[in-house]
Amino acid sequence: MTNTVLQVEKDFNAVIRERHSVRKYDPSWKISQEEINEILSDAILAPSSSNLQPWRFIVIQDQSLKEQLLPIANNQQQIIDASAVIAVIGDLDAYENVEKIHGIAVDAGVMTPEIKDMMVTNTMKVYPNVGAEKRKEIALVDGGLVSMQLMLAAKAKGYDTVAMGGYNAVQFKELFNISERYTTVMLIALGKAATEARPSVRLPLEDVTSWNEFKN
Ligand SMILES: Cc1cc2nc3c(=O)[nH]c(=O)nc-3n(C[C@H](O)[C@H](O)[C@H](O)COP(=O)(O)O)c2cc1C
Repeated sequence: MTNTVLQVEKDFNAVIRERHSVRKYDPSWKISQEEINEILSDAILAPSSSNLQPWRFIVIQDQSLKEQLLPIANNQQQIIDASAVIAVIGDLDAYENVEKIHGIAVDAGVMTPEIKDMMVTNTMKVYPNVGAEKRKEIALVDGGLVSMQLMLAAKAKGYDTVAMGGYNAVQFKELFNISERYTTVMLIALGKAATEARPSVRLPLEDVTSWNEFKN
């Protein structure tokens, strides 16, 4: 059963204020592949280091797969009840796509072939030589950005999410046969809330901000 598409496009203010981590989902609510593609298309507009877009996604909707994932993800019930679990994966060798990415830019008329060549040369000078640890760090930063954008894009369409770091990454990679080249970033449950999320609070701004200095 596919529910009608939620015709919700919230304004930015509402999106960032009404997004809360939802852990109780309506298990009967299905989100179509088309809507998930729309959410992912919005998410991948996120910025990334040298525009290398190291993010990869696994959309998990198969119920038996979700059941296998459940114990790997600390038995968090949202794995089963949410319409989809989206695994955000980071590619440590994303620089290998540099030709393709800037080729698309040239074809789209937003980059000259000369700039493309310069970008490719610079990227290939840096990324293969910084080491896998640094590339992992970059993939995690970029993966965090795309994850946030995904959650806001979902909220803008009236859906709810929760980011999940509470899972066994080794077992997760085994389940999906993910090679050493990739790192897990986080899992995101996506669906329709069954009950309202509990409100959360933030530290006062002055506790987390300093101006022109850093207070250790
Ligand atoms: C990287 C990351 C990992 C998280 N892991 C979990 C998790 O495994 N399970 C869970 O229930 N919530 C998880 N959360 C949700 C946080 O608990 C939640 O964002 C925080 O309490 C603030 O609440 P809010 O999102 O409703 O504003 C995670 C959030 C982030 C950003």
